[in-house]
Amino acid sequence: MHTQSFENTVVIVTGAASGIGRAIITAFVRAGAKGIIADLDKEWSHTVAEKLKAEGGDVIVSLTDISQPDQVDIMLDSALDTWGHLDVFINNAGVGVHKEVVELTDADWDHQINVQLRGSFLCSRAAARQMITQNQGGRIINIGSTAAVNARTEAAPHCVSKAGIVMLTKVMALELGKHNITVNCVSPGLTNVSTVSRGGGATREYIDTFLNMVPLNRLAHPEEIANMVMFLSSKEAEFITGQHIQVDGGYSAGKLAIRGPHHSTETYSINPHE
Ligand SMILES: NC(=O)c1ccc[n+]([C@@H]2O[C@H](COP(=O)([O-])OP(=O)(O)OC[C@H]3O[C@@H](n4cnc5c(N)ncnc54)[C@H](O)[C@@H]3O)[C@@H](O)[C@H]2O)c1
Repeated sequence: MHTQSFENTVVIVTGAASGIGRAIITAFVRAGAKGIIADLDKEWSHTVAEKLKAEGGDVIVSLTDISQPDQVDIMLDSALDTWGHLDVFINNAGVGVHKEVVELTDADWDHQINVQLRGSFLCSRAAARQMITQNQGGRIINIGSTAAVNARTEAAPHCVSKAGIVMLTKVMALELGKHNITVNCVSPGLTNVSTVSRGGGATREYIDTFLNMVPLNRLAHPEEIANMVMFLSSKEAEFITGQHIQVDGGYSAGKLAIRGPHHSTETYSINPHE
């Protein structure tokens, strides 16, 4: 749980109606921030907003398709009309397309790249322009994935868009440093969103295979991703920019995931499975 107060901090979180984005907006609003839920899903967005309002939180919904520049402008206007400024922008919205490359249609490719990569570009550009105008610095945080730097089957547009987001983070950090705007990327490992996601969670087989490569041997809680996002938005993190931080229980540390003894006196051929 993060303890800093974010009172008078205006935060937009894309994809905040569900899963990790929902945990992020909840953490910010509970810490006193004024939040904007920017999501496509009307019903889920209002459910999250009503819950936070019932706790006394300041939050509004802006129904937005982040892949559409005119809708991104409207989203920003609704934040400015309500609270007059923008301090933190979180690019979190994402979609799933699970096919091998040879099965992907043009539309499949475009859909995931347009939401995850083009959407992050459109939103970051709009947020940065506003923060430059305000001349008070700012924070932009992109939600990546361990798939940004680890190839995964049936996930080409996901891996490619997340790799692009990591590089967008670095380029924007270089360009925006002179405005005291930091840009960082937080990449979650496999996260248990099954109870808070419109899209549901992963299959048991996928989880078990994945966990064999996670030294801490469990899924992330969405709140653990929110904790890192909050830290990067805090005063304590004001000198951190251009970084890609993987919150993944050690998954990205290496590939050797055997949990038993390594050494044996058996002899075998080059391919021990033959
Ligand atoms: N859940 C995981 O294990 C995991 C792991 C690594 C990275 N991530 C990343 O974290 C982010 C959130 O993932 P999640 O699991 O919480 O997903 P989720 O499906 O629960 O939530 C995604 C949200 O994005 C919204 N959205 C989709 N398209 C949109 C658009 N065009 N405009 C605005 N909103 C849109 C959806 O309505 C939904 O509310 C994604 O970027 C995902 O790639 C998730």
